Amino acid sequence: MKTLEPRNYNFSNVRYFSPIQLSEHYKLYTNYINCINKVNNDLQNEEIYTECNSNYSAIRSAQKSKTFCFDSVKLHELYFENLTGNNTRIYGPIEKIIVDTFGSYNSFRDKFKCIGMSMRGWVLFCYDRYNNDYYIYGQDSHDDGVMLYAEPLIVMDVYEHAYMIDFGTNRSAYIDAFFQNLDFNTVNQRLNKI
Ligand SMILES: [Fe+2]
Repeated sequence: MKTLEPRNYNFSNVRYFSPIQLSEHYKLYTNYINCINKVNNDLQNEEIYTECNSNYSAIRSAQKSKTFCFDSVKLHELYFENLTGNNTRIYGPIEKIIVDTFGSYNSFRDKFKCIGMSMRGWVLFCYDRYNNDYYIYGQDSHDDGVMLYAEPLIVMDVYEHAYMIDFGTNRSAYIDAFFQNLDFNTVNQRLNKI
């Protein structure tokens, strides 16, 4: 099993977020990296497979933490990658997809925001390989609501830790700030890889 290393992100052009908000969030991300490395290491130990019990067992705990921490690592990397403060005007293939799907960028943003106000963990705009369609979906936690075959294009963290230092309980202002930092070059690059 490969050991994961935290990736580096350049937040120097991110507006409306303080360095402490971003660095504390990044620190949480590194904790999830440490978590998945520990879980993967523990899963190498043969002893963990000697007690197989769905009520309480080390293997059960490891499996639950594996999806929780690994999904969290992936989601945070997608989030930090599309939060740069650069290329914040919508353009390119993603603009056409959003206008075709929602009528306008404003309509998409209103719906994405509403879902962001309604969920407890994450909001994603995705391409679904299953039926070649695009949609927004929400997750209540890192591993609750993950959709099979969905390729994330836009990813927003709505856990309180993502905004509480700078915005208090004003999640609406945080979501507006997120959109003012959303990097459409990153989003278009994700589309190119599909
Ligand atoms: Fe987060």
